[in-house]
Amino acid sequence: MSGINQSQALPPSRTVAVIGSGAMGAGIAQVAAAAGYSVQLFDTRAEAVVKAIADIGGMFDKLAGKGRMTAAEAGAAKARLRPASALSELAEAGLVVEAIVENLDVKRKLFADLEAVVADDCIFASNTSSISITSIGAALRLPQRLVGMHFFNPVPLMALVEIISGLASDAAVAGCVYDTALAWGKNPVHTKSTPGFIVNRVARPYYAEALRILNEQAAEPATIDAILREAGGFRMGPFELMDLIGHDVNFAVTQSVFHAYFTDPRFTPSLIQQELVNAGFLGRKSGRGFYRYGDAAAMPEP
Ligand code: NAI
Repeated sequence: MSGINQSQALPPSRTVAVIGSGAMGAGIAQVAAAAGYSVQLFDTRAEAVVKAIADIGGMFDKLAGKGRMTAAEAGAAKARLRPASALSELAEAGLVVEAIVENLDVKRKLFADLEAVVADDCIFASNTSSISITSIGAALRLPQRLVGMHFFNPVPLMALVEIISGLASDAAVAGCVYDTALAWGKNPVHTKSTPGFIVNRVARPYYAEALRILNEQAAEPATIDAILREAGGFRMGPFELMDLIGHDVNFAVTQSVFHAYFTDPRFTPSLIQQELVNAGFLGRKSGRGFYRYGDAAAMPEP
């Protein structure tokens, strides 16, 4: 793509726009701002942007308190974060990182709307966990400008980033996003657009098998988590990890991978997960999933 130099990170003089200010968008905005980039945050829920900017500011203050950055650096990083109240305010963006709901049609519409606003050399990156980058890009006037930039939760702590090329993605764009991830202190890997990419493909059976064990009432979530953590060497057990990811997000990813592999039974979604979503028990973010959090932790079991 003209104007994009392979093996060169986005210059810090170009603004990064982060769309979606939930768990992932806030984390992505934090690492970009910490690395010296000006960041605009947008969300259809204005209150999510306000909360994300306040939370990120709190994180920078905490890092300064621990001596991991100076107070001046924390202040400068905070000043690089700006809210956007409409997509039309993102015209100057050099890179848009999308972290909205895991739904192909919604992502396609967002990128189509953005394409009418930004310059032709603006790169589009989707943080999708599982949706085909080729499919998201197919709706674009310039599909070569889109790649996947898949971060892991919590973004500031997890080094791995999958850089995903769809069939139409420009290698120079993938190279630029790879080097930008490096400039943000991350450990990127290139991959092709295949359902679930690498990590979510491998992780699906981890969750699915644990859910089958639970369905058979062989053991409780806490027991299974403890076994995987203490004997298996995993940092988090499958149930606590699903609670961290959010059951709405994780269930959408499972459905997406299941359908992308032509309903291969290995990837069959779990009814337990479906019911948690139906109940609004989305995990940490709603105060209850397999476990209870915050105020809900003090409530008696029904
Ligand atoms: P979230 O639910 O915490 O945040 C999503 C945000 O997007 C919400 O604030 C929502 O208001 C906003 N939004 C929805 N539609 C929008 C639109 N059309 N325009 C602008 N904003 C919109 O979700 P989370 O967990 O941050 O996930 C976001 C994306 O990142 C999804 O594609 C998910 O698959 C992916 N992801 C999630 C991970 C996780 O562990 N939660 C890990 C890696 C990727």
